[in-house]
Amino acid sequence: MLSRQESELLAASMDIDRADKMVENVVGRLVLPLGIGANFLIDGQQHLIPMAIEEPSVVAGVSSGALLARAGGGFRTGSSEPVMIAQIQLLDVPDAAEAERAIFAARAQILAAADKSPTLSQLGGGPKGLEVRHLPDTQAGAMLVVHLFIDCHDAMGANAVNTAAEAAAPLLEKLSRGRAGLRILSNLSDRRRAWAQVEIPAKAFDSEEFHGAETVERIAEANAFAVADPYRAATHNKGIFNGIDAVLLATGNDWRAVEAGAHAWAARDGRYRALTDWQLRSRGGSTSLYGRLELPLAVGVVGGATRSHPTAQLALRILQPLGEGGKSASVIGAERLSRIIAAVGLAQNLAALRALTTTGIQEGHMRLHARQMAVTAGAEGEAVERVAAALVAEKEIRVERARELLREYKAQDLKERAGELRP
Ligand code: MEV
Repeated sequence: MLSRQESELLAASMDIDRADKMVENVVGRLVLPLGIGANFLIDGQQHLIPMAIEEPSVVAGVSSGALLARAGGGFRTGSSEPVMIAQIQLLDVPDAAEAERAIFAARAQILAAADKSPTLSQLGGGPKGLEVRHLPDTQAGAMLVVHLFIDCHDAMGANAVNTAAEAAAPLLEKLSRGRAGLRILSNLSDRRRAWAQVEIPAKAFDSEEFHGAETVERIAEANAFAVADPYRAATHNKGIFNGIDAVLLATGNDWRAVEAGAHAWAARDGRYRALTDWQLRSRGGSTSLYGRLELPLAVGVVGGATRSHPTAQLALRILQPLGEGGKSASVIGAERLSRIIAAVGLAQNLAALRALTTTGIQEGHMRLHARQMAVTAGAEGEAVERVAAALVAEKEIRVERARELLREYKAQDLKERAGELRP
């Protein structure tokens, strides 16, 4: 699927000169593994998922979650318009009600003043509406906050939104007879959401050790736990972000922005909760597991690191539906990307809940962790698997033990070679 040039690009990643132009005081580069999440069927299209992550089991987990979802016809996804919020804080406003009236009366003028991105306007995006929020009782007294709604199209839009906020502020000051404070986007981009859902027959969860019907019941119970308890919800949502952040990183998107928005969204009713919903459904005597994930997902495929990072563009190409990869060099749109990412989050969560409600999370983790310990101990090539297998068999995954096993393996290997050389 990848050309030779693209494979070389993946191996080389970013050179130091390019890194030096991205941020300040550059002294090096940090390379992460880029894995491929497999088995994804999303709205009837097959996708490979590029994932940049340091944690073992995540890529294997998401692929197993996606495989389960296939038994239910794959993921169905959707999204709202790509609308971001610019916030303008207004202080020392003499009459808040009067200011609100004046702002609404001058709505068209304000949106025109905020319209500073010709590229967005040409694409049909840009400022589309506004709202006024009253904060009558803050630590610094009363404030008015004006939200501008900016359609960001294929961009994440941080620059366009911040520019719009700064451009509209002088007019808002005049209209409110107040003073503009902060002029910045909100990362709680709750108008720019994506969702994914899936319904999987319980029998798809059957295994040698566990009945599918029992497993899906336990998964629904596990989700109920995370909806009710913030301590569990934090871990549950962290697992979702194992997958989501990995795709955001691979595609050069701002994962801190998405995390901040999603966690604020998870606490929108005043209590921090699970971002997912998993429920049992019964139809015609058979049980299935229904799951849904919805969250704010402000992502872009143009601008920022999506353009300047050499492998981010390639990651976006890998994300094209299978079968279309060879046809064009274009990348997928931001809206499709957000929907794929929602499906990845749901698959990751499903895999974690299945493991947690059956064998436990440590078994799978142990094998991969053992490999890492073997490598840390200095093992190379075949020795990695041999040392890792011995660590798992002993259920003792420590680097000191890996070093001992490596010494034994090397001694044994030497003996065998000497034996081969003997006439
Ligand atoms: C580990 O990185 C993620 C999990 O803790 C998620 C969860 O508990 O749902 C396994």
